[in-house]
Amino acid sequence: MFAKKVVIITGASSGLGRQLARDLAARRCRVVLFARNADALAEAVAECEAAGGEAMAVTGDVTQPEDCERLIAKTTERFGGIDFLISNAGLSMWAKFEEVTDLNLFRRLMEVNYLGLVHTLHFALPALKKTGGLIISIGSIQGKIAVPAHSGYVASKHALEGFCDTLRYELEETGVDILTVHPHWIQGTQMRANACTADGAPMGESKRSHNHESITLEQCAREIIDAMRDRRRELIIPPRLRLAPILKALWPALLRRKVLRIFRGQGN
Ligand SMILES: NC(=O)c1ccc[n+]([C@@H]2O[C@H](COP(=O)([O-])OP(=O)(O)OC[C@H]3O[C@@H](n4cnc5c(N)ncnc54)[C@H](OP(=O)(O)O)[C@@H]3O)[C@@H](O)[C@H]2O)c1
Repeated sequence: MFAKKVVIITGASSGLGRQLARDLAARRCRVVLFARNADALAEAVAECEAAGGEAMAVTGDVTQPEDCERLIAKTTERFGGIDFLISNAGLSMWAKFEEVTDLNLFRRLMEVNYLGLVHTLHFALPALKKTGGLIISIGSIQGKIAVPAHSGYVASKHALEGFCDTLRYELEETGVDILTVHPHWIQGTQMRANACTADGAPMGESKRSHNHESITLEQCAREIIDAMRDRRRELIIPPRLRLAPILKALWPALLRRKVLRIFRGQGN
């Protein structure tokens, strides 16, 4: 079902976006990769072509509406339409609120994680309506529950969730569907190295190690592609985390203990 389908992936220069691009290219998709790092995008395009798909890079920033408009224009010009929009570009943080000295980091998190989807979708929606396309919003389990030291990230992913829930109503008659994805921590991406610390600077490599709680990139990409194929509305990875929103509603004290235990296991 994926052959010849046109897929836009924002944040495709590393991590989950790059893995999804490779795996969808291997299913013969036409993949459009968007991010700011042109060299990394060129490498990712070569990987997609080696995997058997057609691929094109567009360099740009999801926080800039004009870059997103150019992304959509270039995609429709080259491939004629859009079947899937994977909104994946993301930025994290690792600092307690009262330690933060650079307030701008809260704005950056909102602009990348939330407005990134708003901007790309604004320009992509007419094309998605023509194909009855699917929007895939890569959120986080932190769009459903909170985790210490991530206040700005948690807020941005909750904003994304509210936006997608609203659009589901508004798009009901249009043939366009939304899949919201809520992964746990993923190994092998740049998310932690790039996470903003209290003064806004990136955390850098290996400050926080992953443990058995984290999922692999391959598992995450595989489950997302299966959910795209099945046109699901929501995906929580790994499945045991589906309990988290239920605990939040019914046994918040138990959820709090579990979150603190897992968080401390990540080197806190
Ligand atoms: N890693 C985790 O533990 C985890 C857990 C749950 C959810 N997620 C979500 O998964 C998604 C992918 O993250 P990842 O883990 O793969 O991290 P990653 O390796 O750091 O990838 C982030 C991607 O976003 C791009 N990006 C960042 N700012 C951008 C901007 N302003 N404009 C365009 N592209 C931008 C980066 O490329 P450039 O720097 O080249 O622009 C990069 O390609 C994110 O939405 C993240 O919140 C991650």
